[in-house]
Amino acid sequence: MNKLDSELSIGSLVKEGYTFIEDEKDADVILLNTCSVRHKAEHKVYSQLGSLRDQKEKNPGLILGVLGCMAQNEGEKIFKRMPHVNLICGTRMFSKLPELLEKINGTNKRILAIDEDGEVNFDRVVTQRDDRHKAFVSVMRGCDNYCSYCIVPYVRGHEFSRPVEDIINEVKDLADDGCKEVMLLGQNVNSYGKGLGENTTLATLLRRLNPIGGIERIRFVTSHPKDMTRDILEAVGELPKVCENLHMPAQSGSDKILGKMRRQYTSEYYRGLVEMARSLVPNITIASDFIVGFPGETEDDFEDTVSLVRDVRCQNCFVFKYSPRTGTAAMELKDDVPEKTKKKRNQILLDLQSEISAELNKEMIGKSVEVLVEGTSKTDESRLTGRTRQNQIVVFSGPSSLLGKLTNVDIVDSTDLTLFGVTSEF
Ligand code: 5AD
Ligand code: SF4
Repeated sequence: MNKLDSELSIGSLVKEGYTFIEDEKDADVILLNTCSVRHKAEHKVYSQLGSLRDQKEKNPGLILGVLGCMAQNEGEKIFKRMPHVNLICGTRMFSKLPELLEKINGTNKRILAIDEDGEVNFDRVVTQRDDRHKAFVSVMRGCDNYCSYCIVPYVRGHEFSRPVEDIINEVKDLADDGCKEVMLLGQNVNSYGKGLGENTTLATLLRRLNPIGGIERIRFVTSHPKDMTRDILEAVGELPKVCENLHMPAQSGSDKILGKMRRQYTSEYYRGLVEMARSLVPNITIASDFIVGFPGETEDDFEDTVSLVRDVRCQNCFVFKYSPRTGTAAMELKDDVPEKTKKKRNQILLDLQSEISAELNKEMIGKSVEVLVEGTSKTDESRLTGRTRQNQIVVFSGPSSLLGKLTNVDIVDSTDLTLFGVTSEF
């Protein structure tokens, strides 16, 4: 979502004649788009702003702005800690960026723009995106779930689904611009359609998008287990363009902790969903998120999480150490798991997951997979890289003419993170 917001912001500025420059040192405007989901993300931005102080002193005309979640969350506090910042632009004010910069230009004014009633503007310049062959498409914004640890509902506001026709038009425009894969984004994508009438759901949206010519792959993130439905899984199974991959965060395997997190499901329910997903979509892969060291998490609770990770055998897991966020319900609970224990539990889960991922990837050796070729490999420029429909990363030998195309790759080797292969087009 942050990447898309950056693209939206850039799009609105490029339309007004702004251009990118090679070296940040020569910039007239520097904007940092930010995340506040964990303390560490905010801390990084403060240190980056600190290191921009010199540049601002040398060039007082430089406009320095903070955008997004941290701007919304910290507000005026950013000006207090970093007085050389000119603009604080919240999550619902991106479309006002050109106007705001115009007001500051030549004055060195400071503007705080974090209006909560601001409109989320979904309009975008579709040609403005990092990747030619892939694009993010926002289908809903905000979140009404209020998981007790999470700051998102406070910084991104209430859930709001975008009308189906708008999404279809954007996806058609993207297809006309050479895009092959769309990733539908929503903090809580499974509840897409709330407020748009009974017959509008994520499943019906997927069915409407599937026929659009030029688009080869459709993905969606992030799925909340409590809102996952058989309808959605059936759509994934039936629709040829919808990829067989879910990002469905479990967060914990302990029912006690899930309760305290206000997740509204049990670990048994999560296991049941994974089973249903695998029976309706046999080759589906699943990714999950886990938080370790949530207040009150005992060794037994953590063992329940280890069992869940061991049993569901996800393709990959993202593991985070609990980070208390001001204003969230979990702030009422004592952050009582020591940092050392959080670190240890984090490492145990990562090691276990890496073992599972390595085993699953090994099973792919000898198989042929469809890859959307995205670029050259970071570690070896003579090789290409892309993803399978199941979201596995593949590095392989093949001609650069395959860039942006779908190709079949025979898998010959693997690690926990990557599949290696050769394309028959070689
Ligand atoms: N501390 C640690 N991790 C968090 N996440 C969200 N809030 C917090 C927090 N306060 C994690 C969740 C979520 C992912 C995007 O970030 O696992 O799924
Ligand atoms: Fe945060 Fe996701 Fe829970 Fe919403 S559903 S509150 S975004 S963790």
